[in-house]
Amino acid sequence: MSVWFQEVPTEGSVELPPDPRALDALGRNHSLETALADLVDNSLDAGATEILIRFVQWGTRLVGLYVVDNGRGIAPESIDDAMTVGGQRQYTGNDLGHFGLGLKAASFSQAASLTVLSRAAGRKPVGRRWQLDLVRHSFDCDIVPDSFVAAELNRDWQLPNGSSGTVVRWDSVSGFPSSDDPEQVDEFLSRTVSHLQGHLGLTFHRILSDRGVRIVIDVEDADLGPGVRHPVTPIDPFAYPDTLAGWPKQLRAPIDGAKVVLDCHIWPRRSNAPEYRLPGGAETRQGLYFYRRGRLLHAGGWEGIHAPDTRLQLARVRIDIDGDTAGLFVMNPEKSRVSAGPRFAPAVAAAHADDGTTITDYLQAAEAAWAAANRRRTARRSAALPPGKGFHPKVAREIRDELPLLHEDPVNIQWKRFTTDAFLEFDRDTRTLWLNRAYRQALLGGRRGGGNDLPVLKALLFLLAGNVFEGAHFGARDKDNIELWQEVLTVAAKAERSTFEARQ
Ligand SMILES: Nc1ncnc2c1ncn2[C@@H]1O[C@H](COP(=O)(O)OP(=O)(O)OP(=O)(O)O)[C@@H](O)[C@H]1O
Ligand SMILES: [Mg+2]
Repeated sequence: MSVWFQEVPTEGSVELPPDPRALDALGRNHSLETALADLVDNSLDAGATEILIRFVQWGTRLVGLYVVDNGRGIAPESIDDAMTVGGQRQYTGNDLGHFGLGLKAASFSQAASLTVLSRAAGRKPVGRRWQLDLVRHSFDCDIVPDSFVAAELNRDWQLPNGSSGTVVRWDSVSGFPSSDDPEQVDEFLSRTVSHLQGHLGLTFHRILSDRGVRIVIDVEDADLGPGVRHPVTPIDPFAYPDTLAGWPKQLRAPIDGAKVVLDCHIWPRRSNAPEYRLPGGAETRQGLYFYRRGRLLHAGGWEGIHAPDTRLQLARVRIDIDGDTAGLFVMNPEKSRVSAGPRFAPAVAAAHADDGTTITDYLQAAEAAWAAANRRRTARRSAALPPGKGFHPKVAREIRDELPLLHEDPVNIQWKRFTTDAFLEFDRDTRTLWLNRAYRQALLGGRRGGGNDLPVLKALLFLLAGNVFEGAHFGARDKDNIELWQEVLTVAAKAERSTFEARQ
């Protein structure tokens, strides 16, 4: 028989402060973009109107990163709390800060050393530094001498002069290229700056447009000084050009006596605008957008309401998790995800608008809008045979989205061994465009191939020659075209092969 003791007895206690190595686990879910967004949160909480993110290049190497703001700064008596891991302060209704962790977690996830230099109006400037490898042994935070604090605060930041502000500096940033090949560094910078513009533009779009805050990114060359400034412009995922009749609608979901408002929007059609395309691709951005205090925490996904579906691409729902409803959601410390508890999906199923519209009505309307927009878009194009074997799945999907398709056997593009050196062979019976395997290695440039390899080549061939398989036989025009493609492409393939062989 088992016995259940309701209480666990104890006899005294031992104090077990966490091992400093526990810090290694902080901010594990951060990327450079989300980590920098966390620092931007702090600048915004400090009332900054100007925020600069600066990469520093020394020769061809990237050596550091700064986030500089013209906010209230940190007073000498507050700097130690600010540097404390988990040092929460009193937050007001509009603060983005919540955990007392962001600055440290974001920084340690990306850099081996975090230095904070700050000046509050009329107060003595102060500076502190954490070095991650030392923090692992003890929690001793370095004090930065006044002269260095002043020098850093007075660098040429090209921000409007102000009486207060903060400089956060990261050294030994783990994501920076270790190579000093200028081409690689340039490539890294242009990719990173554009990712940052995307992520910050999306995350802070409401704050950027409502509060007149400016965020800029630049790269400083130690010899040449600061370079071009790249502005972060707001990317509003709800800024579509024209609305569908009857939408958006606000559905109210009752959860535990509070009402969560689902602001249900439908884009009229898809678009090439950055507001639609969004970092990560529009398809993954359907669903719920959670905002807290005007800052976007989480963009896309259905949280159990529905599975992701290509046909729901136009559906985006805005949810503000402030006020009464804040307790129903949990955000991760990186502020990059929101989890809605188990009561959320059933509550959404019961939600309705004043006119009785339910979430099912909304999803159906979004799907209908998608179908109607596709019909309009593809109506002008002539129908094509569907893509079959040999196509990269993404290419096949794109073709199906872009063209009205005939309900017939598909076109395949596949490799086989030829007895001649011709590049192509059209097999009407199987609707297969055969490619000569003798050129495959060269075209792949030595990479490993697969059934769906060389998506660009196959997409081009499909667009060029897909329609010769339509109809009962090759017409004279088809035959002439096939001859032309054969001549030109065989020469091109041979040229490709000899370049490839010369490199071996
Ligand atoms: N740029 C800044 N300007 C002024 N004060 C700052 C700045 N950055 C950080 N601080 C101070 O340091 C404190 C700690 O920042 P940290 O990001 O670690 O925590 P938090 O913002 O309070 O909460 P969260 O973990 O949610 O970000 C802040 O509360 C703020 O008082
Ligand atoms: Mg913070």
